[in-house]
Amino acid sequence: MGIRDNIIDEIKSRCNIVDVIGRHVLLKKTGSNYKGVCPFHNEKTPSFVVSDTKQIFTCFGCGATGDVLEFVQRYNNLDFPGAIEKLCDEYGIEMKYSSFQTERDRTALYEINREAAAFFYRAFFNNPNPGYDYMKKRGLEPEILRKFGIGYADEEWDSLYQYFMKKGTDLQILVELGLISQSKGKNFDKYRNRIIFPIINTRGKVIGFGGRILGAGEPKYLNSPESAIFQKKNNLYGLNLTRQDINKEKYVILVEGYMDVISLYQHGIRNVSASLGTALTEKQAEMMKRYSDNVVLAYDADEAGQAAALRGLDILHKVGCKVKVMHISDGKDPDDFVKNKGKEEFLKLVKNAMPFADYKIYLLKQRLDLDTTEGSVEFLQETAKILGELSPVEAEIYIKKIARETNISEGAIRLEINVNNNSENIKKYDTVPVRDTGKESQSARTDPGFGTMLEKNLIKLMLLKSSYVNRIKPYDWIFQSTSAFKIYDIIKSVYKADEEIDMKKVEDSLDTADNRLLQDIMENIHLADKEEQVFRDCIQSINENISAEREQELIRLISILDDEKDRDKIEALTIEIIKIQKGKTKDR
Ligand code: CTP
Ligand code: MN
Repeated sequence: MGIRDNIIDEIKSRCNIVDVIGRHVLLKKTGSNYKGVCPFHNEKTPSFVVSDTKQIFTCFGCGATGDVLEFVQRYNNLDFPGAIEKLCDEYGIEMKYSSFQTERDRTALYEINREAAAFFYRAFFNNPNPGYDYMKKRGLEPEILRKFGIGYADEEWDSLYQYFMKKGTDLQILVELGLISQSKGKNFDKYRNRIIFPIINTRGKVIGFGGRILGAGEPKYLNSPESAIFQKKNNLYGLNLTRQDINKEKYVILVEGYMDVISLYQHGIRNVSASLGTALTEKQAEMMKRYSDNVVLAYDADEAGQAAALRGLDILHKVGCKVKVMHISDGKDPDDFVKNKGKEEFLKLVKNAMPFADYKIYLLKQRLDLDTTEGSVEFLQETAKILGELSPVEAEIYIKKIARETNISEGAIRLEINVNNNSENIKKYDTVPVRDTGKESQSARTDPGFGTMLEKNLIKLMLLKSSYVNRIKPYDWIFQSTSAFKIYDIIKSVYKADEEIDMKKVEDSLDTADNRLLQDIMENIHLADKEEQVFRDCIQSINENISAEREQELIRLISILDDEKDRDKIEALTIEIIKIQKGKTKDR
């Protein structure tokens, strides 16, 4: 179990065995080890050795040996979890929540939650109560409510508290699980006059609760706090009941709320699940994927729901799910819709759900005005980014479709996708520090992430003659490599008019990596007293880059414009391109 390994690693790195044992055994340094009288058998001459480097103890008398956890177990007569707890406690290592809990402790927590769920369940089904009436009024059938283990927390302040106290349950655990609240020395039930939705994991354990107020009011839902057995971000609601259906249907409908799950389920749409009121997390997406990698998002129709859908979309796509977004055309959420329109209509919506790329392009079309040039350019750029994430075959289908639906040519879209791919690569070199060995890291170390020739020459100029600082300033966006930018930044800050740059100050303000570039510049860039010539060359080169970029942009623009409608614009842009191209030949 990864979590368990984490805490053990942390203990081993934080609790030095020499310190831990040294508190109980008098240790003397001998060479690289420490020696003392063995606490595990009777002896007069020390044969108990503790190694600082290996972090183990060994007794050459009785053969006892082990690491720090082994020592604490034996010395204090504790089991393994007990030793962990003791060390965490003494060294202030957080072991609450997900960190580490013994399976035994977890079992106790599950058991208490199960009992609480049963308590609420009985209150819901055994006698008339407002909770039952409320759910009935919302059209839910007892049979389904039983399946989901729905319960009711009554209006009293301490029903659950009294129930558990009679059983002798540990109050602290009840508080930790969020079933009992404490205030001003009083204990009272956290859930009062609420519908209880037990949250049950796929192993059938009750890990937490959601409690809905009857009718309107705040907070609408009260959820269990995070605890050793409940992490919202790692769980999905309903999966315990629906995973077989998800498997069978080969897709899952992901909704926002408890009520949506139950309501769809009742209407015969059983391949559903809900994120627990939070934005979908990567963990939840991974979990989903284990049952089906076809996900249909059926989030609320309101703005918040749509924003959440968009985030969920990206997360699901990222973990490799094929994801679609459903548009609830009538009503505020799936529960509302299916209640009014029924199963068949709902399944029609599922069928019409928009795939990842379609949905994103649809949103772009809503946001941007494709009748303006700016709108079209942005649409093209954003679309290219989306299509760049798809497989080439898939992308090709969309390229054709978009070209048909807009006045952007297929060529323009392909060009834009390529531009993106190339600039992505450059960006990677610029920002990612040397990571692995091999060709790529080699090139990342030398050029251009480390500093382009242009950057190096400009820096050298400023270091040689500080008057260049002000002349270079208008072009300073050129410093894009991390180290070059930092050096430039420092030069600017130490710069004083009529004084040369204080090299020492610059060096002192830079870290090792940046100093390496500085050193490289000082040793390898030679201007041979031709500063002014170098400066002019640099500026010319910058201007050429600008022209080249503008040229690309113009080509893009022209490809977007409508031959008929935008004839004048096309002409003006063409003239600009020709000018740029002429300029290029003239300079050579
Ligand atoms: N939620 C929450 N806390 C809130 C509001 C919402 O934890 N104060 C979570 C719940 O898991 C809820 C989901 O977000 O199920 C969706 O919220 P909402 O759409 O407001 O509730 P519904 O599930 O639609 O419930 P109902 O139909 O009863 O209003
Ligand atoms: Mn609802």
